[in-house]
Amino acid sequence: MRLVLPLEPSLWSVKYRPTSWDQFVGQDTVLSHLKSLTQNQSFPNMIFYGPSGTGKSAAVEVYAREALGDDYASNYKLLNVRDIREMPVSKAKRSLQDLAKLDQSERTELDEYMSLVYREAKAALKTRGQSKEPNRSQMLQTAIRMFASTYTFSEVPVKILVLEEADALDNNMQQALRRTMEIYSDVTRFILITHTLSGWSPAILSRSLILRFQSPSLEEIEKHIAKIASSENITIDDGGVAAVAKESLGDLRRAINLLQVAAAGTSSVTERTVYEVNQTTLTREVHEMVSHAFSGKFLKARKTLRNLLALEGYLASEVSLEIQRDLVRRQLEPEVVRTALERLAEIDHRLTQARNPFIHLTALLASLTYIGNEGQN
Ligand SMILES: Nc1ncnc2c1ncn2[C@@H]1O[C@H](COP(=O)(O)OP(=O)(O)OP(=O)(O)O)[C@@H](O)[C@H]1O
Ligand SMILES: [Mg+2]
Repeated sequence: MRLVLPLEPSLWSVKYRPTSWDQFVGQDTVLSHLKSLTQNQSFPNMIFYGPSGTGKSAAVEVYAREALGDDYASNYKLLNVRDIREMPVSKAKRSLQDLAKLDQSERTELDEYMSLVYREAKAALKTRGQSKEPNRSQMLQTAIRMFASTYTFSEVPVKILVLEEADALDNNMQQALRRTMEIYSDVTRFILITHTLSGWSPAILSRSLILRFQSPSLEEIEKHIAKIASSENITIDDGGVAAVAKESLGDLRRAINLLQVAAAGTSSVTERTVYEVNQTTLTREVHEMVSHAFSGKFLKARKTLRNLLALEGYLASEVSLEIQRDLVRRQLEPEVVRTALERLAEIDHRLTQARNPFIHLTALLASLTYIGNEGQN
């Protein structure tokens, strides 16, 4: 008989996703909190916050599996707020029968859930005598309520609803969420995952246990990278490991991806290979963007920025760091560099609190346009 082995995920960041507490790098305080909650069968509402690639989503999954045990499958749900907000009503309108006709690869679990949500939201409007389509906010509220409100019979007294990318909730949605949290507090616990605490309603913050995920130290990242390299039989020298850790900017997903890309093109990874694969796109596009700004083509610069953040998925902090490097590399008047770097430092600080980093980086581009113009006068 031929043995069929399960396929391994092709992305190492997925393959090495922690599935138990001992596989996490860093986060000691957070992990000890979560472990003791499960031990004590205590189920608070929680907010996990911190930068990308620090283990928030991985931790919520391990926690929920431990906390819910055998009831995990029926008592756990994860909803991505941004995905729901961005799903057009025309898509949610499709019936389950419509979806069943599609190929498996063309429909997701969310599509099916939203199909039910749409019908529920529409019915709720109808009972209030309204025949209009539900709007995005009503759809989102219904999506949350539908899971939060149902009782299930299980050993564990609660269900867990995770809201990913919860930064996408606006003020009205936060108000509605707070009410939902209160109404269903006997059956459902909420875990919100977000990058920042700024912009959150104090009413929600005060009802939640707040756990902060921090970027691991350079040494921790280096150790993890060396371990993965050895599991994958990759030859990498100390300079290569250090470069991966440094360029990851504290994001473990990024560190692992970088190792994988660097290893793909060579039999032995060094500092040079890492910089070569890492720098290409971002370095080139940031250079072009700054050149546009300096030469007064603000709209072009802004468009490049939008592509970097929204399409190519770079973090605002990466873009701002690369702008800094680019400014230093340019042969500019010392006075111009100084003014530009001062402005950059100000924006960089704002980015740590920002809900919409695009706005702040756009302001930086506007300043560069101005500085460039002044420099020519
Ligand atoms: N603390 C960690 N320990 C070990 N691996 C980690 C850790 N954090 C992140 N990773 C690696 O990065 C990947 C992404 O992690 P995860 O999805 O938990 O990040 P996140 O904090 O939710 O990021 P985002 O804010 O971008 O959603 C994991 O699959 C894993 O490979
Ligand atoms: Mg996540």
